[in-house]
Amino acid sequence: MTRWMLLVLALAGCPNDVPLFGPPTESTCPTASPLTYENFGKPFMESYCTRCHDSKLVGKDRMGATSFHDFDTIFGIKAVSEHIDFTTASGPAATNTSMPPDGDKPSLEERRQLGEWIACGMP
Ligand code: HEC
Repeated sequence: MTRWMLLVLALAGCPNDVPLFGPPTESTCPTASPLTYENFGKPFMESYCTRCHDSKLVGKDRMGATSFHDFDTIFGIKAVSEHIDFTTASGPAATNTSMPPDGDKPSLEERRQLGEWIACGMP
C-alpha cells in the first residue's frame, strides 16, 4: 500500500471531517407511519445517544455532549428535534451522520425512520 492510500484511509476514518450540522433532511410523514416513542424513539435514543445525552449525566460523564440536549425523555427530544434531524436523520434532501460521534452507529434505515418519526411529530 502506498503512503498516499494510507493518508486517504486516515482522513476517511476521521469523524471530525463531518460538520456537526448538516442540512434539513426534509423528511415527510406518511399517513400510516407505525413509528412511536415506545416502539422507535426510546429504543433508538437508548441504543445510540443516551450514553452521552442523558439528563442524569453531568461533567465529564457527558463526554462533551451539549448541555440541555438530553434524550432520556420525550420532552428532551422534542425540545431540540430540529437539531436531531440536522445531525442524525436521513431523508430525501440529506443524510446526516455527525451523531453519534463514535461507537455503535444507526443503520441508514434507522436514520430514515428517525427523520420520519420527527416529521410525524414524535408520537
Ligand atoms: C460519545 C458521546 C455522544 C453520543 C453517543 C452522542 N453524542 Fe451528540 N454530541 C456529543 C458531543 C461531544 C457534542 C458536541 C459536538 C460539538 O460541539 O462539536 C454533541 C452534540 C450533539 C448535538 C448538537 C447540539 C447543539 O449544539 O445543538 C445534537 C443535536 C446531538 N449531539 C444529537 C445526538 C444524537 C441524536 C445522538 C444519538 C444518535 C447523539 N448525539 C449521540 C456527544 C455524543
